Amino acid sequence: MAERIDPWGSGEVQDYRRLMTDFGIEPMEPYREAFKANRYIRRGIIFGHRDFGRIADSILKKKPYVMMTGLMPSGKFHFGHKMVADQIIWHQSCGASVYVCAADLEAYVVRNIPLAEAREIAITEYLTNYLALGLKPPFTFWFQTDYKVPYYRLRDMMSKEVTFNELKAIYGEITTGKIFSAITQSADILHPQLSGPQPTVVPVGVDQDPHIRLTRDIAARMAHSYKMVAPSATYHTFMSGLSGGKMSSSNPASYIALTDAPEVAKKKVMSAKTGGRATVEEQKKLGGVPDSCSVYELCRYHLIEDDKKLEEMRAKCESGMIMCGECKKNCAGLLERFLIEHQKKRVEAGRQARKLVEELR
Ligand code: TRP
Ligand code: SF4
Repeated sequence: MAERIDPWGSGEVQDYRRLMTDFGIEPMEPYREAFKANRYIRRGIIFGHRDFGRIADSILKKKPYVMMTGLMPSGKFHFGHKMVADQIIWHQSCGASVYVCAADLEAYVVRNIPLAEAREIAITEYLTNYLALGLKPPFTFWFQTDYKVPYYRLRDMMSKEVTFNELKAIYGEITTGKIFSAITQSADILHPQLSGPQPTVVPVGVDQDPHIRLTRDIAARMAHSYKMVAPSATYHTFMSGLSGGKMSSSNPASYIALTDAPEVAKKKVMSAKTGGRATVEEQKKLGGVPDSCSVYELCRYHLIEDDKKLEEMRAKCESGMIMCGECKKNCAGLLERFLIEHQKKRVEAGRQARKLVEELR
């Protein structure tokens, strides 16, 4: 059966290759060498794209481009979300104009989060962490429910370009609220081009691809009124949960939040699901399986930048030279150092975030 993607569903993917062939997502390989400074591209975590060529060209030739992405303010900001943050910041360092949308409408519609609460989460969880991780003003930040007239005009005009049957074909079961948030997301993505066509990249988890496809179709159909370049996208694989299964905001044991007390975070690592064997003897003999280990994953995605060090971790594991207890301790140490540093930066970033949002009013 074909993989189906539900952007409002569980976000679990069985087979990324299959997804790529079914939906026409291009492999990222051709860009790996040129952008190997980016850990996610280098390690194949960003595995696919649509029209990344335009973006690569902009970066390499230092031409203007837009990095646009959105966040659903619905819970703690964890290491899964950090992936997007790192990409936003990377694009900014490559010269992109940054647009970040807080999808408070979507959080209200699909997660039942009151708008005031969504706003607080967007500020204290997302924006604060983005700034602490290195995002620098100026950038454009807005809430879906209080943005500008031209954005709404665009969204409303977009509604005419897509039929109900198309929406059903893309999303399956759909409600009025979901239709609105889908079209709003298309406006999120395209409105940076209201002032003129610009290559735009949207770094997302692959669960967002239905929205990207919809937006690309709509962009083409809006040619009568707006001149816009179809948005490009990059897709990353999801991190798995620390407790096995998926990483989910509704299960705190499955993730490490960037605000978790270092002690709590360390405990989560110490009790995480690994790729270790049932007994020490077995592990010494057969070695562990880093590719099904959430501790290794945390290091590969976030905690170990140096490829040689990561390779060492893998080799020690696979050869049975190290047991999970010791290996987890190493990882917990790296995590602790990161969190202490990060949480220090959050203090000033928090003030800055609040000020930024007050200025939007
Ligand atoms: N739907 C996205 C999510 O669930 C959030 C989002 C809103 C978004 N607008 C966007 C993502 C525009 C990318 C581009 O996380
Ligand atoms: Fe994971 Fe480390 Fe155990 Fe290998 S030794 S399975 S990398 S915790």
